[in-house]
Amino acid sequence: MTSTDFAAAAAPAPPAARAIRTFHPRRGRMSSRQTEALDRLWPVHGLRVPDEPGTPVDLVGLFGRRAPVVVEIGSGMGDTTAAMAAADPDRDYLAVEVHTPGIANLLDLVDRRGLRNVRVAEGDALDLVPGLPEASLDAVHVFFPDPWPKSRHHKRRIIQPAHVALLRSRLARGGTLHCATDWAEYAEAMRQTLDADPGLVNAHDGFAPRPPHRPVTKFERRALTAGRPIFDLIYRRS
Ligand SMILES: C[S@@+](CC[C@H](N)C(=O)[O-])C[C@H]1O[C@@H](n2cnc3c(N)ncnc32)[C@H](O)[C@@H]1O
Repeated sequence: MTSTDFAAAAAPAPPAARAIRTFHPRRGRMSSRQTEALDRLWPVHGLRVPDEPGTPVDLVGLFGRRAPVVVEIGSGMGDTTAAMAAADPDRDYLAVEVHTPGIANLLDLVDRRGLRNVRVAEGDALDLVPGLPEASLDAVHVFFPDPWPKSRHHKRRIIQPAHVALLRSRLARGGTLHCATDWAEYAEAMRQTLDADPGLVNAHDGFAPRPPHRPVTKFERRALTAGRPIFDLIYRRS
């Protein structure tokens, strides 16, 4: 598949598209480097989220080995995924993103760093995750999800009870759900939602101290410059 095919295939919403999406529809220009990376590396590291939500995903086949798997939802430009995967070669990282330039950028980072433990899925994570085996994941990362600050948009937030129950069901016992946000009101809503989930236990007392293994991204730096504190939440499946 080339970048042109990729855009054409990604454009139309499938007929059974979910009504409420957690992401902003957006187009983005790709640099020539990203276009080249997409064309060359998508066939090696890419996975299209199947049109039929819940289609089974074979994780061992995808990574070519049996290792603990981390799913990152909304990997953006992929800097965090690439840095964490590079520092953690014994686990496999499956990044899920809808934004094509971000996917292309991550593919480029994976190639430049020679990473063998990263795969990049294009599409809605909420359609992909139901296809993962239950209790199959070591961790789920949701870093700086779209905050959807207006009350009427809260239904679009990725961290809400039904989505959390789905993510938790795919975590192995003791596996972690790690969220981070710079949006204080969303952080508090996340905490209440995660506390209320019957199968999750907070690994800390309230918000987690900033874990050194989560790299500081451009996104986070911008928030800090604007004076917004960062909130980490780390919960374990009981
Ligand atoms: C605010 S950005 C943060 C990106 C990145 N995690 C970071 O820290 O820089 C949120 C990202 O989540 C993606 N996203 C939101 N909902 C998603 C979903 N259901 N499936 C896949 N990606 C999603 C958006 O496309 C966007 O790139």
